[in-house]
Amino acid sequence: MRWHDDFLELLDQRLLPADEVWLPHTTASEVATSIRNMVVRGAPAIGISAAYGVALSALQTTDNGWKQMIEADMQVLAESRPTAVNLFWALNRMREVLATCDTRHQAQRRLAEAAIGIHGDDLAANLAMAGHALTVMDDRAPFSVLTHCNTGALATGGYGTALGVIRRLHEEKMLKRVYADETRPWLQGSRLTAWELAREGIPVTLNADGAAAAILSRGEVKWVIVGADRITANGDVANKIGTYSLAVLARHHKVRFMVVAPASTVDMSLESGQEIPIEQRDGLEICEIKGIQIAPVGVDVFNPVFDVTPASLIDAIVTERGVIHEPDISGMRTLFNERKP
Ligand code: MRU
Repeated sequence: MRWHDDFLELLDQRLLPADEVWLPHTTASEVATSIRNMVVRGAPAIGISAAYGVALSALQTTDNGWKQMIEADMQVLAESRPTAVNLFWALNRMREVLATCDTRHQAQRRLAEAAIGIHGDDLAANLAMAGHALTVMDDRAPFSVLTHCNTGALATGGYGTALGVIRRLHEEKMLKRVYADETRPWLQGSRLTAWELAREGIPVTLNADGAAAAILSRGEVKWVIVGADRITANGDVANKIGTYSLAVLARHHKVRFMVVAPASTVDMSLESGQEIPIEQRDGLEICEIKGIQIAPVGVDVFNPVFDVTPASLIDAIVTERGVIHEPDISGMRTLFNERKP
């Protein structure tokens, strides 16, 4: 994401790794469309983009009804994707700033500053989480990890959540190899994670999602490390579809399972993962690849793009506030005792 004071550029993640195209955005509804269409994706990046979208909205206002215009744009942004709570967290932060503004010029300045602040805070949180995660990893000999989806610079304010930890392991020479699930159907693992790691020279092996059990059975992987889209008060975690299967596999193979996510991903207003709205996307995402039919026309499709991993399968949740071991409601409350709206 690049903020230019009067427009926002987003790297079109749908085209990676083949093409690097930056798309300019001047309105909140353009940003909402880019979130919905996956130009930008990943929970923290969705929240940051939405905050910039609100800043753009303020720039588009006229003297009459400027506050209502911004509120209407916030509603459009809120409807872009349902699962990652970072979107609603960021919009709430922006709403609080808007409430302090008496003029639209004040709103233009304060909302832009707030969006830049949200972006910077996320990057700082990523770096802090990488530090906390390393305190949990007691293996001294370099070890391999397996990850799912993309949780790197593309998905965040800059460094990455799970991929930030992996970057840090590499920097500390603790990392042997990263196995990256390709992550059907959007292929965030092959198109984005493998791209981010390869261009930094971090050893990565790409695997089909179905190969994860075979990889974990070999004993080389010590940790499965993933991000999150929403963590509820009992420590349940919504993340990219396939994460739950990985957690079951990890427990079976005695591989430890770590979730890395900033506080903006925690939703203490929901008691458990059963309450998380799970986004269902178009079945064509499974039936076609680049417009080529790969399934019978008209076949019934089930395409939830997130699943919920129960807290009981998670060894550690790492946030910038610290680590929750074997998460449950009391562990969550020690770090997050507020209830979010
Ligand atoms: O559908 P996506 O690509 O937005 O899903 C992304 C994920 O599930 C990530 O694992 C999650 O947002 C964490 S990103 C730091």
